[in-house]
Amino acid sequence: MATSITKAVIPAAGLGTRFLPATKAMPKEMLPVVDKPAIQYVVEEAVAAGLTDVLMITGRNKNALENHFDKVGELEDVLRKKGELEKLDKVKYSTDLADVHYVRQGDPKGLGHAVLRAKMHVGHEPFAVLLGDDIIDERDPLLTRMLEVQQQLNTTVVALLEVDPSVAHLYGIATVKATDQDDVVKITGLVEKPSPGSAPSNLAVIGRYVLRPEIFEVLERTAPGKGGEIQLTDALQSIATGPEWGGGVHGVVFRGRRYDTGDRLDYLKAIVQLASDRADLGPDFRPWLKTFAATLTNDDHEHPDAP
Ligand code: UTP
Repeated sequence: MATSITKAVIPAAGLGTRFLPATKAMPKEMLPVVDKPAIQYVVEEAVAAGLTDVLMITGRNKNALENHFDKVGELEDVLRKKGELEKLDKVKYSTDLADVHYVRQGDPKGLGHAVLRAKMHVGHEPFAVLLGDDIIDERDPLLTRMLEVQQQLNTTVVALLEVDPSVAHLYGIATVKATDQDDVVKITGLVEKPSPGSAPSNLAVIGRYVLRPEIFEVLERTAPGKGGEIQLTDALQSIATGPEWGGGVHGVVFRGRRYDTGDRLDYLKAIVQLASDRADLGPDFRPWLKTFAATLTNDDHEHPDAP
């Protein structure tokens, strides 16, 4: 019988090398997207889906993450004394958002290794995994649908997004069969970052998963794969193809807005799109953006890359 899910695990221990030097002393999950760090959107999404017990897997530079979800007494006092109550609410909001716990990954040996660090905290229940640098637009509630599908089928559930074949080699890619639900597929195989041109489909696994507790046993048996890392995709492939692991893997095909803030181009797009839609910034930002876009007629204003 399906249980009701309360725990979310958020891996945030990657090195973030695509974002150096910004990530030299700060996790990429703390990069601001408009005026909130990326990870706050992710925690808000977990809470909106009813998951208020959050375990963050942290790596080096974990202090910024912990401080963000902790009480900052001095700052609160200053804002209170100045009567800046709106700002005070913003500071307190992230502190009160969820019950946040932390565990260290030590060496970042891959996403599978990061998820394995959640074993003690999670215990024997299904749980959600949300990647800390992947933002799903709150207007397109994906996790809620995935939890519903997990409760209904009681299998492992991952999120899939149709991507352009030219970028399929950057993702875990699924081979699927249709089910009687339009947005749900049965996954028959998964491959992590297939070499260019060899992807079995254009359905990419994105950073939302609802896992069953057997994942920990499978991860313990999973040898390092692509890049010498313990890959969550490899463990999911074992579950998809091994009848002993509780019913296989289903995919929820997501057709909404998603921003991979660990990628510089996607990060820029996220800021522009989210700022344009904001009631407080959009009315001033959109006209400026239109004027700016109209100036983009050639490439003569490109600067050479900084070191
Ligand atoms: P990425 O592959 O995007 O993270 O992992 P990365 O290795 O930090 O990125 P680059 O390529 O060097 O820029 C996806 C998610 O998994 C977490 C990351 O923090 C990110 O949220 N992760 C990855 C871990 O927690 N531990 C790991 O060992 C690897």
